[in-house]
Amino acid sequence: MIDFRSDTVTQPTAAMRAAMAAAPLGDDVFGDDPSVNALQQYAAELLGFEAALFAPSGTMTNLIALMSHCQRGDEAIVGQNWHTYKWEGGGMAVLGSIQPQPLANQPDGSLLAADVLAAIKPDDPHFARTRLLVIENTTGGQVLSLDYMAQMSELAKSNQLACHIDGARIFNAAVAIATATQADPYQVARQLVAGYDSISVCLSKGLGAPVGSLLLGSAEFIARARRVRKMLGGGMRQAGGLAAAGLYALQQHVRRLADDHQHAQQLASGLKQIVSDCGLETQFSLQMPQTNIIFCDLDAALASHFVAELGKHQVRLTSSVYQSAGQTKSRLRLVTHLDITLPQIQAMLSCSGDILSNY
Ligand SMILES: Cc1ncc(COP(=O)(O)O)c(C=O)c1O
Repeated sequence: MIDFRSDTVTQPTAAMRAAMAAAPLGDDVFGDDPSVNALQQYAAELLGFEAALFAPSGTMTNLIALMSHCQRGDEAIVGQNWHTYKWEGGGMAVLGSIQPQPLANQPDGSLLAADVLAAIKPDDPHFARTRLLVIENTTGGQVLSLDYMAQMSELAKSNQLACHIDGARIFNAAVAIATATQADPYQVARQLVAGYDSISVCLSKGLGAPVGSLLLGSAEFIARARRVRKMLGGGMRQAGGLAAAGLYALQQHVRRLADDHQHAQQLASGLKQIVSDCGLETQFSLQMPQTNIIFCDLDAALASHFVAELGKHQVRLTSSVYQSAGQTKSRLRLVTHLDITLPQIQAMLSCSGDILSNY
C-alpha cells in the first residue's frame, strides 16, 4: 500500500523500536519515569523553554495549553482553519468553557494583524476576556515566516495576551526555512518559537514516533498544565517506551523531513505535468507544496473516479467535499512522510498518468 493519507501513519523504524525496548521505565504520574523525564528535559532545552510535558496526543497538548492559559469565560483568538478551532471536537468550548474567537485565514495561512487587533475585546462585562492568541505553524502545510511569528508574539505581548503555537509540524516549518536559507533546522525552530508562552509539538506526525505530543512552556505554566493533563485523563504510567521513541524522533528524524518535502515537490510537479498533458487543468488544480502536504481541487466526478482507481492500485489518500460558487468540489490531500519512498512516488505518478489519460 502507498499511504498518502497522513504523516501520522508511519511505523516506528527498527532503530526506534530498539530505543523503545531499551527504555528504562518508571511511573510518570509520580514523575519518576526516567525516559519521560529525559524526553521532556531534552525538548525543553532544544526549543528554549524551561519545562515540558509529555501527553498522548496533539489534541490533548493543545487543550491542556488552552485550559492552562485561560479560565472559564475567557476567549482565545484562533484561525478559522486552525486545528484547535475546527478539528478538535470543539474541545476548548466543550471541556474548557473557553470562547473561541475565530478569524479568517489569509491565502498564505496567516491571520492579519489588523484582524487580531480588532478582535481583542475591551475590558467590559459584556464581553468575554480576550486572553490568548493561538498561531498554527505549519498550517495546512504552509510555513509562517520567522518575521511573521515574531510580529504575532510581539502583538500578543503588547496587548497583554498569552500566545500559544500549535506546532504539530513546527519542525516541517523549520526545515523548510532552513533548507531555503542554508541554516540549521534546530536553530530555526528555536527562532520560530522565541517569545511564545507555549508550544505543542507532535512527535507522531512527520517525526515518525508512534504516539505522543509535547507541551513546552515556563516551569510555572507546565506545573499548571500537569494538573490539567491529569484532569483530562492524560497521565500515563510506564510511558517511557513511548517517550524513548519521541526522543529518538527529535534527535534523528528532524533533518530528514527535507526528504519528505522533496518527495512532495516531485509528486506535485509530476501530477501538474500529467494534468497539463491530459488537458485537465480546468478540472484538476493543485498548489505546489511548501512542506509535506499537497492539496488538489477537483471536479467531484473526476475526484471520485481518480480516488477509486487509485484505490485499485493500493494508493490511499484523503478526500473531502466542499461547495464553491454553488458547485460541489472535492479536495484531495496527499501527505509525504517517513514511509513514502521515491519509487512509491514514481509508482503513484505512473498510475495517475494511466488513470487521467483514460478519463
Ligand atoms: C495542526 C495540527 N494540530 C494538532 C493535531 C492533533 O494531533 P493528534 O492527532 O495527535 O491529536 C493535528 C493532527 O492532525 C494537526 O494537524
